[in-house]
Amino acid sequence: MSVTIDSPRAPRRTGGVNWEKWGWLYMRVSGALLVVLIFGHLIVNLVVGEGVKAIDFAFVAGKYASPFWMIWDFAMLWLALIHGANGMRTLVNDYAANPTVNKVLKFALAGSTAVLLLLGTLVIFTFDPCPAGASADLLPSFCPVP
Ligand code: HEM
Repeated sequence: MSVTIDSPRAPRRTGGVNWEKWGWLYMRVSGALLVVLIFGHLIVNLVVGEGVKAIDFAFVAGKYASPFWMIWDFAMLWLALIHGANGMRTLVNDYAANPTVNKVLKFALAGSTAVLLLLGTLVIFTFDPCPAGASADLLPSFCPVP
């Protein structure tokens, strides 16, 4: 039996939004942004200043005192998680030929992505740099001394 494959640039026959095209474009655009966000993140956390030795609760709290780093991490979280989930969706479609397995895997992927996006976003925006009862030597210097 011969199968005819459409030319890659052939117009879609079903009409409506071409989600695969936008998904393809999202992978490229988010990939380019992630290069800047991930390397910026690694350099600031691991290279400048005292490097990796400086990382502790106070370091993270100091960063989250600035809206700049909150928005940086928020962008990195959403762009990377959706990028990773959309990439995994492609792999599931490529390899999970059984329709039930395919559906279950994509359902699990969507669910875990939604939970991680919610939890990550809550951590970034509800982070308390000066938790009550914590020992002062673990806290950033701007916390009021109890
Ligand atoms: C430096 C940052 C990154 C760049 C430049 C980048 C770039 C890309 C590009 C262009 C694709 C599409 C490949 C294709 O369609 O053939 C892709 C696929 C993928 N990416 Fe990323 N990515 C980055 C970070 C990440 C991160 C942080 C994750 C995980 C959260 C991730 C997970 C994936 C997965 C699972 C795929 C699908 C692989 C496949 O289709 O074979 N990537 N990436």
